[in-house]
Order: sequence, then structure tokens, then C-alpha cells
Amino acid sequence: MDLFEYQARDMFERHGVPVLAGAIAETPAQARAAAEKIGALSGGVTVVKAQVKTGGRGKAGGVKVAKSADEAEQLASQILGMDIKGHTVHRVMIAQGAKIAEEYYFSLLLDRANRQYLAMCSKEGGMEIEQLAVERPEALARIPVDPMVGIDDAKAEEIATAAGFDGDVKAQVVAVMKKLWDVYTGEDATLVEVNPLVKMEDGTVVALDGKVTLDDNASFRQPHHADLVDEKSADPLEAEAKEKGLNYVKLEGSVGIIGNGAGLVMSTLDVVAYAGEDLPGKPHPANFLDIGGGASAQVMKDGLHIILGDPQVKSVFVNVFGGITSCDAVANGIVGALDALGDEATKPLVVRIDGNNVEEGRRILAERNHPLVTIEETMDGAARKAAELAAQA
Ligand SMILES: Nc1ncnc2c1ncn2[C@@H]1O[C@H](COP(=O)(O)OP(=O)(O)OP(=O)(O)O)[C@@H](O)[C@H]1O
Ligand SMILES: [Mg+2]
Repeated sequence: MDLFEYQARDMFERHGVPVLAGAIAETPAQARAAAEKIGALSGGVTVVKAQVKTGGRGKAGGVKVAKSADEAEQLASQILGMDIKGHTVHRVMIAQGAKIAEEYYFSLLLDRANRQYLAMCSKEGGMEIEQLAVERPEALARIPVDPMVGIDDAKAEEIATAAGFDGDVKAQVVAVMKKLWDVYTGEDATLVEVNPLVKMEDGTVVALDGKVTLDDNASFRQPHHADLVDEKSADPLEAEAKEKGLNYVKLEGSVGIIGNGAGLVMSTLDVVAYAGEDLPGKPHPANFLDIGGGASAQVMKDGLHIILGDPQVKSVFVNVFGGITSCDAVANGIVGALDALGDEATKPLVVRIDGNNVEEGRRILAERNHPLVTIEETMDGAARKAAELAAQA
């Protein structure tokens, strides 16, 4: 799960990372009230910052300096509702205005290939960091971090030296990096990025912007992370699927996909996309849905319910390989689900089942002879059929 900047700010603060005051506002009036309070800390100056889970907010016009509470209110009314790379701005953060002397960059991330963490640090942070990484990679220090050791004094020294820091600023940067390491491990993050980490005119170093990605696999030991979930922008189908314990990801296309096992579903997506290539409108997968090993009538019903609830879906491809759950059980699951769904089942279904006890499974489907169901013997044939049905709809 990615966090909003204000959530990252609060998390940093709890771990002792130096941050500036900030408050969240959902209306221009709230922005004014927050700017009155927070501006008092910084000569009336605040920064109105769009809260969206994407980068490049500043460049998109989503980060603006306000010299008064009036102006903050006005800017908030401009920024709220704005679209930044497909993300609607529902909230702004009113941040204390900083007098910035220098902008630095620091991030910590998971380096899966090398089975360790990677710290990146630069004295030249700010909004052009991507360009810097491409054009002058030597200005961005990349230091591996051993997960068993972490960022201790020696490692923080090493990173700060590699980035070219010295003197008092270096000491502060070292201290901040150690705190950010506490955030990274303490919160089970897979990414902590501070851009910019700034030196202010008074010489103090603070984290001005934060990006944090939390590892959802660790949520069992981080119960308070549940509070950080953003219900407003969650896809309603994904939310419903999650509630039912289904592994569902909404995609853009028109062919609904149900399969058992993540690998089979992944290859089903590929086969459907390929089958749709030369058809009108190039139908492609509408979702990823792995119903797991069971494929009972209940799970099949829940899965179909979600997929049929997606208005973009024109046809559905059910691709199940019977293993421990044999094909006759799967076929009964499909039939039972269709009967339970009744009038809700309105879109054509292409079913390909194979594996354990396939003849009996196909016999059950043939005998029920549901008007919406087409049985195909091969995965390629079924993908083609489902794509054609979507193209015709
Ligand atoms: N509180 C603040 N006071 C003064 N200037 C700020 C403040 N917050 C941000 N800025 C300035 O605005 C720039 C952009 O802000 P920020 O880094 O938060 O957004 P961004 O980098 O555009 O967003 P993203 O990180 O999502 O790409 C900063 O580099 C900094 O120069
Ligand atoms: Mg930034």
C-alpha cells in the first residue's frame, strides 16, 4: 500500500524524523483555517499540496506557495478536484512554508535481485531527480544495505560520504537516515523516499516530502496500518473482492477472467490479449481473478458476481484446471453459481475445464445446457471464443 504524503509525514514524525507542521484539508474553508494556524509558525507563509498517490505533483501545478490564509483558501479551491495523472485531488495538505537553502534526496528500497536493501542519496534533490539519475548517475550515490545490519552509524556515514556531504549538515543527514531506517523496518515498508530532504536557511535539515510504500504481507503484525487505507479512491469491485477473500485486480478490458491458480490466470490474460489482437476493438482482459484451489459453487458465485458487476465486461472466460478439486466439482460449482445468480447472469460465459475427471465435468455442463455457456476444449479456442463474443457485444 502506498501512503499519501500527509500519512508519511505523520509516520516520520512518530519515528522522530524532523518534519514541518502540516494539516489536512478537504475544503477551501478548512484550508483557510489550517493556514491561519500553521502560517503563524512561518510568517504567514504556507504551501498548499495536492495529496495524490503519484509523483510529479509540483510539476502538475499541485504544490503552490500561499502568502496568506486568503491565498491558501484560493489555491486550495483550485487544487481540490484537480486531476493529476488520472488521480483526483480529494485533499490538500497545508504545510508550513520552509525557507529552503538546499534540496537533497534520500531513498531506501528493496533490491530483490541482490537480496538486500538499497539506499540512494544525492546532494542534488528536488523535482528533477529522475533527470539527474539518467543524465548524471554519478551524482546519485547507490549504497547496498545489508538487511541483517541495517543503517547503523557506520552505514549512514558511508552513504552520506558517498553523496558528498560534510560538516554539520552531514551529521544531521546521518541522524535523519538512521531515523528513516527505523521507519523502514519498524513499519515494514518496501520504500521510503524523501525528496526533497532540505537544509533550511537556519541550517536545520528536515524531510519536506515523503513517499512510503508499506508491505501488505506484513499487515498481520501492523494492525494500525488498516487505518491508513484510503476508502475514497479504492475501486469498489476490488474492495468487494477483498472482503470476500478473492484475489481480484481490475483491468481495462472487456473479457472477464476467472481461473484457479495465479500462474494459470496470468497466462489466461496473455492468451486472451493475444486472441483479441486482430478483432474489432481489440478486446482484452477486464480483470485478474484467481479463485484458488477450491473452485466451489460459493467461490465461483462470488467470483462471477464481482465480474458481472463490472459494466465493462462483455463476456467471461472461466478457465479451470482440475487438480485436487476435480472437474466434476468445478462443473457443479459453475452450474450452481449460475443457478444462484439467476437473472444476474446476463453475459456469455466460455468455459474451459481440463484435468482430473474432465469427462464427467464436461458432461455435467453439457447436461445443464445453460443458454449462456459455451464449452471449449482448449485454452486457445476458449480465449478466441471469449474475445469474439466481447468484440460482437
Ligand atoms: N513546505 C514547503 N515549503 C517550501 N517549499 C516547499 C514545501 N514543500 C514543497 N516545497 C517545494 O516544492 C517542491 C515540490 O514539492 P514536493 O517535493 O512536495 O512535491 P513533488 O516532488 O512535485 O511531488 P512528488 O514528490 O509527488 O513528485 C519542492 O522541491 C520544494 O522546492
Ligand atoms: Mg517530492
